[in-house]
Amino acid sequence: MMHQTIIGLEAKKQLDIAGEKKVDVVIGCVGGGSNFAGLAFPFVYDKMNGAQIDIIPVEPTSCPTLTKGPYVYDHGDTAKMTPLVAMYSLGHNFVPAPIHAGGLRYHGMAPLVSKATNEGLLSPLALHQLESYEAGILFAKTEGIIPAPETTHAIAAVIREAKKAKEEAKEKVILFNFSGHGIMDLTGYDKYLTGQLQNYELPDDVIAENLKEIAGYPLP
Ligand SMILES: Cc1ncc(COP(=O)(O)O)c(C=O)c1O
Repeated sequence: MMHQTIIGLEAKKQLDIAGEKKVDVVIGCVGGGSNFAGLAFPFVYDKMNGAQIDIIPVEPTSCPTLTKGPYVYDHGDTAKMTPLVAMYSLGHNFVPAPIHAGGLRYHGMAPLVSKATNEGLLSPLALHQLESYEAGILFAKTEGIIPAPETTHAIAAVIREAKKAKEEAKEKVILFNFSGHGIMDLTGYDKYLTGQLQNYELPDDVIAENLKEIAGYPLP
């Protein structure tokens, strides 16, 4: 995963060119964790060395791995072909809801993102798909680029942070990763715009049921 940090290292150079000395908030959507870690880890390093930065991985409420899953040893795949890995997990037998952010429906999370979360370096957030699509539409109208449904989760979190900064009358630098365009995902936008999408939150009892499968596995 570490090679992905070229994203964060380049972001630092771009911020420098833009004349920004300090980043206040770093945001990325998380499926398995790679685009988020790529952007965030150079800033996690700064945070470990005393910088005040809120670093927010954003996931869907339908797959709340970091916000509702336990930190456990689990397999990375349903077929249990991988060794046990220490990570936040909803259980390797997790069956995701058919939301349109397909890339955010992984049951587990990258071990380093999990470790950083467990150590309190990250502040995970779970968002509903309707708020995310609304953010995606606003982004498309204002920036001229249609974001992927996965990416809209990060954008919705950016909008929340920007509104919070406005309310607090604080000027903040908010950095986020635009993980992909949504040209292949227009069906999701069509369903959102014609009122066919609903919010979905994975119920706690379903999570508990999934986790029975890994009861007795070693704990990190
Ligand atoms: C556009 C987009 N963003 C984000 C992700 C999430 O993946 P990861 O968390 O591994 O970066 C995906 C996965 O398919 C994706 O397609």
